[in-house]
Amino acid sequence: MPSLLVSKSGPLKGEVVISGAKNSVLPILAASLLTDDTSRLDDIPDLEDVEVMCELLEHFGSKITREGSHITIDNNSIANTSAPYELVRKMRASFLVMGPILSRFGSVKISLPGGCAIGTRPIDLHLKGFASLGADITLGHGYIEARADRLRGNRIYLDFPSVGATENIIMAAALADGLTIIENAAEEPEIIDLANFINSMGGSVRGAGTDTIKIEGVKCLSGASHTIIPDRIEAGTFMVAAAITGGDIILKNVIADHLRPVEAKLKEAGISIYELDDGMRVTVERPLRPIDLKTLPYPGFPTDMQAQMMALMCVLPGTSIITETVFENRFMHVSELKRLGARIKIEGRSAIIEGVKRLTGTDVRATDLRAGAALLIAGLYADGTTRVRDIYHIDRGYERIEEKLKALGANIERTQ
Ligand code: UD1
Repeated sequence: MPSLLVSKSGPLKGEVVISGAKNSVLPILAASLLTDDTSRLDDIPDLEDVEVMCELLEHFGSKITREGSHITIDNNSIANTSAPYELVRKMRASFLVMGPILSRFGSVKISLPGGCAIGTRPIDLHLKGFASLGADITLGHGYIEARADRLRGNRIYLDFPSVGATENIIMAAALADGLTIIENAAEEPEIIDLANFINSMGGSVRGAGTDTIKIEGVKCLSGASHTIIPDRIEAGTFMVAAAITGGDIILKNVIADHLRPVEAKLKEAGISIYELDDGMRVTVERPLRPIDLKTLPYPGFPTDMQAQMMALMCVLPGTSIITETVFENRFMHVSELKRLGARIKIEGRSAIIEGVKRLTGTDVRATDLRAGAALLIAGLYADGTTRVRDIYHIDRGYERIEEKLKALGANIERTQ
């Protein structure tokens, strides 16, 4: 099994170009199913999760061509509206095809996504949304089936601002009869990206990026061209990698506004961040200090940056605290960081981190995507060599991570 070998590295220096956002590409690929036309997407990262979503679309009958970071999707001959377990189990976000298929074809059958490493992650809010739009939903034999001759717009209040449920309901409502209003909607930048794509297909989605989104259903949508926004989590990961090595790097292809919550916490820890005309500079000029943070839906601190920040906190002087409020079981990286010498105690939904001066490299396991990134970051600081195993998790969401880190001066190799 391949693994990543990271050795203690000097200050990271240079420029890194951030790829298109994984969490935008996945719903936008799903949204392409809303039309029988051809759509073209640019700045598509080369990631395992994107491969899986393309495989799923091809299973439905989409014709996909990829050239570098461009993808063309022709949805003229969709022949299938059912997604089997073999495809859905590989990636939870597969469930995002449910809204667009239901809305365009009037029926969809999809295998239950099941649990995943970072918690039970139910789909009740997605289903509640589809039911409010008039779908009949049945569950049985591990599959969910939804049917509706034509969905009808409605007012939907989400008990929690779920990113996936907001996206699935927007896509279902895009071709419904009349107006849908989603209240307590997720406000993540990726929701705005999805809304912009649907609007460029001829749809009407207003208020994306706020907690109230209004979707006026249209009879049909056409193909569109769209460039994916930069990945704020990849950018944040490189910021933390620079910080832990005392580096000085420039991030290119970033939207500074999307990084405000991460920027605020890094600045609190003593890291300097400057906005440039065409990027952001991250450098360490002052002594570092401990910080506390709580993960929250956007614009709060992203749960997808929690593990990477914890890696940094492990070596900040003093006591730092993380409270994870979005997922109930997202501390699996703690035991792996402890294997590197970190001092962390978990109390309920909080992790109390006593900064140490020294980490020591050893074999560790990526338990999920962001946990894997956290271990690479810790490995840059740890004495000796850290072998990160199960890196298929990392490859799901980071494009050529070792090449990008290496170009900044990190000691990192992939082994086969
Ligand atoms: C998306 C992101 C993921 C990120 C997460 C939170 C994608 C492809 N993935 O995942 O990287 O970590 O947002 O920012 O965009 N919940 C329910 N019922 C539901 C749906 C969700 O209770 O029907 C709960 C979940 O269990 C979790 C919380 O809501 O505790 C947040 O989940 P959600 O925002 O839906 O995350 P995802 O869309 O799965």
